[in-house]
Amino acid sequence: MRTFTTRPGSSLSGEARVPGDKSISHRAIILASLANGETEISGFLEGADSLHTLAAFRAMGVAIEHAGGGQVLVHGRGLHSLSAPAAKLYMGNSGTALRLLTGVLAGQPFDSVLSGDASLNARPMGRIVNPLASMGASIKAADQLVPPLRISGSALTGMSHKTLIASAQVKSCLLLAGLFAGGETTVVEPAITRDHTERMLRGFGYPVVSGSLRVALSGGGELTGTRIEVPADISSAAFFIVGASIAPGSDITLRHVGTNPTRTGIIDILRLMGASIELLNETVMGGEPVADLRVRSARLKGIAVPRELVPLAIDEFPALFVAAACATGETLISGAEELRVKECDRIQAMVDGLQQLGASITATPDGAVIQGGSLSGGQVGSCGDHRIAMALAMAGLCADGPVVIADCDNVDTSFPGFAATAAELGLVIDVT
Ligand code: S3P
Repeated sequence: MRTFTTRPGSSLSGEARVPGDKSISHRAIILASLANGETEISGFLEGADSLHTLAAFRAMGVAIEHAGGGQVLVHGRGLHSLSAPAAKLYMGNSGTALRLLTGVLAGQPFDSVLSGDASLNARPMGRIVNPLASMGASIKAADQLVPPLRISGSALTGMSHKTLIASAQVKSCLLLAGLFAGGETTVVEPAITRDHTERMLRGFGYPVVSGSLRVALSGGGELTGTRIEVPADISSAAFFIVGASIAPGSDITLRHVGTNPTRTGIIDILRLMGASIELLNETVMGGEPVADLRVRSARLKGIAVPRELVPLAIDEFPALFVAAACATGETLISGAEELRVKECDRIQAMVDGLQQLGASITATPDGAVIQGGSLSGGQVGSCGDHRIAMALAMAGLCADGPVVIADCDNVDTSFPGFAATAAELGLVIDVT
């Protein structure tokens, strides 16, 4: 198990490009595998999570050339050409891989089993199993509606679903099932969530109708292979956006970051706290907006985080907890109960970690109340969660002593090379 140890007193400066977007990388493999013809993907995230998706489609007979370096060539054979996997499909730590694949597999003419590691096998699946069942899917979950999921391939019928949880994984799962269903599949969400699936489906030539909270497609169409350039992941950039904001004297530029408006809640929230974040060289690549982000240190102040921004920054809360702990005044986070069912209970993990570093922070059922101030050094754990490990490494930038973070192997699920990039930008970090 790797341990990160940060030394106090660093600032961040220079330029970096963080790895490819995890959400887009999963979707690129899935849709390319189901498309007719070749799809060339560049900037693919070489992280454990997206590699599980790639391995799953290979196990279902899709020829995928992948020599590393973010370059992937997928030889799609069309929507109806997957073959039954010889063994159960193991999705590791990845909720996105497991939930999106469930949507694809529910409508196949063969049976399959999806499982994950201990963390994933404890995550709630009723949110996908129940609506898929209403489309005619036959899925048996373990007790408490967690993985492994045993899927018996069935004929599906399109349905209109009103989801209670704002979740792009649920929406995407149902839309993917809708590709194999008769008639129209509609998802109506309680709040806006990331829309990469809808954008990418259109990029593959598949008609999707969407309004602000409603999205619909009809089964029976075709996907056509294309080229996909995956932007750098704003969720990985988030650690350095917060790090540069809280470490005095910092000035960094993060290149080619995805700035899809359904993902930029982190920028909006930090700006409300007083952060200095500029979007430069804004452009659109393959239907996804990208920009270089210039971040300079600023005096952050506590805020009540607007609830409508929560789903647009859902993966960035571990980093935002650190920003709040280093700000002046109180930050109130609410409406973020989904954080309790991520790779770990992220509310509890950040409260425990920051308390260990001397912060004044109290958990609430759906968030936390954080009194900004100074942090001390200390020993903390990641709870086996990549984003907790990286967020606590950023806390090291405003702690007055070394921060020792145990159990950091899982950083490789989303950000292989994190410690090296952090060191290049100026964080003094030892990996042992
Ligand atoms: C993701 C959606 C989010 C996010 C996850 C990636 C996606 O999950 O936390 O890391 O790629 O669709 P929820 O949909 O469960 O909020």
